[in-house]
Amino acid sequence: MLFIFFFAILGGKFSYTEAWGAVGHSIIVRLAQDQLTNATADWLQSLVPWHFRGNLSAMASWADSIIHENSNPTGFINWEWSKKLHYINVPDGSCIYQVDRDCENNTCIDGAIRNYTERLEKNLDLAQQQEALYFLVHFVGDIHQPFHTALKSDYGGNTIKVRFMNGRVTSLHSLWDSGIIQYRIQTDFQSNVNKYYEYIHQLMLREPILNSDDDIQEWIRENLKLVCNQLYFDGNNQTMDVTKTHNLNETYYMRSRPIIEKHLALAGRRLGTILNRIAQARARQFLLSTSLSPVVYILIAVGSVIIMLIVTLVVFLCIRNRKKR
Ligand SMILES: *[C@@H]1O[C@H](CO)[C@@H](O)[C@H](O)[C@H]1NC(C)=O
Ligand SMILES: *[C@@H]1O[C@H](CO)[C@@H](O)[C@H](O)[C@H]1NC(C)=O
Ligand SMILES: *[C@@H]1O[C@H](CO)[C@@H](O)[C@H](O)[C@H]1NC(C)=O
Ligand SMILES: *[C@@H]1O[C@H](CO)[C@@H](O)[C@H](O)[C@H]1NC(C)=O
Ligand SMILES: *[C@@H]1O[C@H](CO)[C@@H](O)[C@H](O)[C@H]1NC(C)=O
Ligand SMILES: *[C@@H]1O[C@H](CO)[C@@H](O)[C@H](O)[C@H]1NC(C)=O
Repeated sequence: MLFIFFFAILGGKFSYTEAWGAVGHSIIVRLAQDQLTNATADWLQSLVPWHFRGNLSAMASWADSIIHENSNPTGFINWEWSKKLHYINVPDGSCIYQVDRDCENNTCIDGAIRNYTERLEKNLDLAQQQEALYFLVHFVGDIHQPFHTALKSDYGGNTIKVRFMNGRVTSLHSLWDSGIIQYRIQTDFQSNVNKYYEYIHQLMLREPILNSDDDIQEWIRENLKLVCNQLYFDGNNQTMDVTKTHNLNETYYMRSRPIIEKHLALAGRRLGTILNRIAQARARQFLLSTSLSPVVYILIAVGSVIIMLIVTLVVFLCIRNRKKR
């Protein structure tokens, strides 16, 4: 209920800066939507607030909007528990994700993706399916931003200060969420997000299909490899740390941009695959309950009654026979 109420006041307007910015998340969900089968699209349509007319990407940043006071002033405390679901932090120097150590009680982005995938395959009530769907589309996006599975000491790059292209000071994490994407759209796509979407869409179609497309743990390993071997090096290959503000320019940009764009494309394709698979699992599971006509139910009921009568008769005859002897 709380949920429905929340949509009413929010009306789909979000403002926040964390986690692939709104643009990145929206692009990822649009890419996924482009791959949906009609059956999947029909099912999802029923889970998107009606005023968005089945446009799931409008909900792509819901998971961020609920935890921030400016976008959810009356309810953000209620969603505090979900903050930990947006990331994984591994101990510095480890560069390896260990589920039991880094995702206690499944309270991390890996556990959340598994949890909400499973929940969507069940027949939960509408509000719970909506919650699961909006969380899922967001977290599959987030997990493709390498700084969402990164190092503990600097909170996934959040405490590393950088100045990009002589702009204002921001965090390394935020530069990866949105700074680089924004710069790219401004300089190469006339600030037109739709043109940029088309470009990433083409990238997605060209990305080879991999075995790892299914493997969340492999996605995390790929991220950590990037984090530990590349993303902390500035234009002079000096390791960035929290002690000062690092100036980043074209050198860092040209090195990072291809990774970001590839990850947007991969996230979109993988999310589309996941959603289609969930819809198929639901169809298989609920086939019985939805495809039987009333006539079949009546036949089953009549059949059961007849079987019960026969069993009763047999038991009755047995007892009578025994008494005779
Ligand atoms: C899917 O839906 C679209 C538009 O509603 C329709 O044109 C298309 O034929 C459908 N595809 C299948 C396989 O049913
Ligand atoms: C869906 O919403 C997104 C914004 O989240 C917008 O960019 C996109 O154009 C919309 N798509 C359609 C088909 O309306
Ligand atoms: C994990 O669950 C146990 C038992 O419910 C609890 O004591 C512990 O605090 C939880 N840990 C985290 C990190 O939530
Ligand atoms: C799965 O999601 C539900 C609903 O949000 C939540 O209550 C539950 O704690 C989650 N379970 C795990 C293991 O994350
Ligand atoms: C970018 O920064 C690097 C390293 O600080 C420097 O060597 C290079 O000259 C700078 N490039 C531009 C175009 O400012
Ligand atoms: C930084 O490292 C990369 C890859 O190892 C190398 O291509 C580049 O020349 C190095 N840049 C500087 C300024 O040392």
